[in-house]
Amino acid sequence: MSTLPGPLSLVAEVTHRCPLHCVYCSNPLQMQSAANELSTDDWTRVFHQASELGVLHLHLTGGEPLSRPDIANLVDAGREANLYVNMITSGLGLTADRMHELKDAGLEHIQLSLQDADEEKANEFAGARAHAHKLKLAALIRQQDIAFTVNVVVHRDNLDRLEAILALAESLEPQRIEVAHVQYYGWALKNRDRLMPTPTQVERSVQLITEAQSRLSGRIQLQAVFPDYYARYPKTCVGGWGRQMMLIDPAGLALPCHAAAIIPGMNFDSVRAHTLEWLWKHSPAFNRFRGTDWMNPPCSTCDRREIDLGGCRCQAFQLTGDAANTDPACSLSDQHESLVAIAQARPSSDSQWVYRILAKS
Ligand code: SF4
Ligand code: FES
Repeated sequence: MSTLPGPLSLVAEVTHRCPLHCVYCSNPLQMQSAANELSTDDWTRVFHQASELGVLHLHLTGGEPLSRPDIANLVDAGREANLYVNMITSGLGLTADRMHELKDAGLEHIQLSLQDADEEKANEFAGARAHAHKLKLAALIRQQDIAFTVNVVVHRDNLDRLEAILALAESLEPQRIEVAHVQYYGWALKNRDRLMPTPTQVERSVQLITEAQSRLSGRIQLQAVFPDYYARYPKTCVGGWGRQMMLIDPAGLALPCHAAAIIPGMNFDSVRAHTLEWLWKHSPAFNRFRGTDWMNPPCSTCDRREIDLGGCRCQAFQLTGDAANTDPACSLSDQHESLVAIAQARPSSDSQWVYRILAKS
C-alpha cells in the first residue's frame, strides 16, 4: 500500500447549490445543503493536503461554484497549494467584476456549459433562462488570459442539432470543445427514457465529430465522450476506482466517483476527520473496488481486466443490483441484453422531464 500512487486530480464539489435545474445533471438525488458545506479554511486545508499527495489538477465544480461568495478565495487557495485550477461553471453569477477577481486569484482554466444551439430548447433542458447570458459570457472569458473550454452535453433531444451546436461552440472561440453524451447517473437516470439517443443519432454524431475534428485541427481541440450503452466494452470509469481521481462532496465526504453514494453498504469518510492521505490510502470506500482482486467472473479471468477494470461500479449496481458484477455495458456480461433493451426502448409520449431540485433543509 505504501507504493500506491496518489491521485492526479481532485474534484471539489464546493456546493450543490445551482441556479440551473438540468435534466441530465449527474449530482446525487440527495444533495448537501448550504448549511453542511465545508468552510473556506476547510477547503484550503484540503487543497494543501491534495498537493502533498501528488494531485496536479483541481476542478472546482458543483452545483454551481459561483454560488459560493468565497469562490475567488478558493481559487487563490488552490493556486497557493500549487494546483492547476479549473472551474466548471454554468456561467450564471459570473459578472465582469467577478471574472477579474477570479483571474487575479489565479484561475487558469474555465469550462462553460452550453445546452443547445436553439435558445428555447437550451433553456428547457436547463430549467432556466440561461442561454443568452452564457453567449455574452464567452466574450468576457476570451478577454482574459484563461484557457477556455466549451462543454455540451448531448442526448436524444438535441443530437439532431449537433451541426448547429458545433458551429455555435466554434463561434465562441474556445481552445477546446467537449461534446459529452449523457452518462446516466443521478438526475440523468431519472430522465433516461427521454435522453437515450437512437443508434442512428449515435452513428451520425460519431461521423459529425470526426469531420469537425479534422476541420478544427490545429485551431480548436475537439474531444467527445460517446455513450457506452452502445459500446462493446465498458469505459474505464474515472480512470479506475481509487486510481486517478478523488472527489470531495460539499460536506467533505471523500468519494472515488460522483455516483458512489448510490452503492448500498458503502460508508464514506470525511475530510473533517481524516487527512486526504489517510482517505486515499486507508479508507474502506477507496479500497473496496481498487485494482482487480474484488472481481468476479467474467472480469476476474478476462484479458481486458487491467484495461477497463471491469467498467463502472455504479452502473453495475444500477443495472444489476450488485456493484461487484461486471458492468453490463460489457458485451461479455451475462446481463448485457438488459442494457441493450434499455437502449432500444423509446420514451412514452406523455413522459415529462424531471428537473434537478435541491430540497430545502
Ligand atoms: Fe472488461 Fe470485465 Fe468485460 Fe473483460 S469481462 S471486457 S474486464 S468488463
Ligand atoms: Fe462510480 Fe463509474 S460513476 S464507478
